[in-house]
Amino acid sequence: MTRKPLVAGNWKMNGLKASVSEAKRLMAALARNRPRCEVLVCPPATVLALFAQTTKGSLVRIGGQDCHPAASGAYTGDIGAEMLKDAGARAVIVGHSERRQYHGEQDALVRAKAQAAHRASLAAIICVGETAPERDAGETLAIVSRQVGGSLPDGATAKNTILAYEPVWAIGTGRTPTGDEIIAVHQSIRSLLARRFGAEAEGMRILYGGSVKPDNAAAILRLPDVDGALVGGASLKARDFLDIVSVYAR
Ligand code: PGA
Repeated sequence: MTRKPLVAGNWKMNGLKASVSEAKRLMAALARNRPRCEVLVCPPATVLALFAQTTKGSLVRIGGQDCHPAASGAYTGDIGAEMLKDAGARAVIVGHSERRQYHGEQDALVRAKAQAAHRASLAAIICVGETAPERDAGETLAIVSRQVGGSLPDGATAKNTILAYEPVWAIGTGRTPTGDEIIAVHQSIRSLLARRFGAEAEGMRILYGGSVKPDNAAAILRLPDVDGALVGGASLKARDFLDIVSVYAR
């Protein structure tokens, strides 16, 4: 089965209304180049609807950065998956390490969020990854395996679920694992998925994330079993993001 690669930009807590100009630049460039990958931008919730309206009908898709497991209710400050969908999102990131780290989110909650995304017909981009001490202790595969097992809901399909392997120590640091280290984790995730979801696993995309930049994107994205990237810092400027997307130029 061929998996269409995905390059997703996670803007985190960056971006105001004026930043929609970056989305417009992306739209224009993608309309000219039509890469072999899907392109998703996940801006802050405050501008999600604006980005979605602006990019409607283009090759730029819009996603959320997090959602609450419930559809609605008394959860001050939270955003439900249905609301993201209503605002024009096609996907939502769940279980990002910054949510796990700063908000104490654990696998069971991440799984419930992914289920909420599926209920709202959003694709869930489920993030997993080890910390530096865990890697140093040789626990990378065990940690990732526990997170994959605990964070993916039953009923995950190739269409509604995307994995993102993001070593915590590589996020925002400029450090990345070696190609062999990335391959080892992606192949181990693939076999975990195959054991649980059978043939469906073949179609599930596994993105790499953590300090993907224009200058290392080609080396990372051409690795076997890497089906795209989740890009933080380098997704904020259309020019850098497009350089990364251009690895998938036709
Ligand atoms: P980075 O972030 O590309 O800035 O390292 C990646 C992420 O957190 O998704």
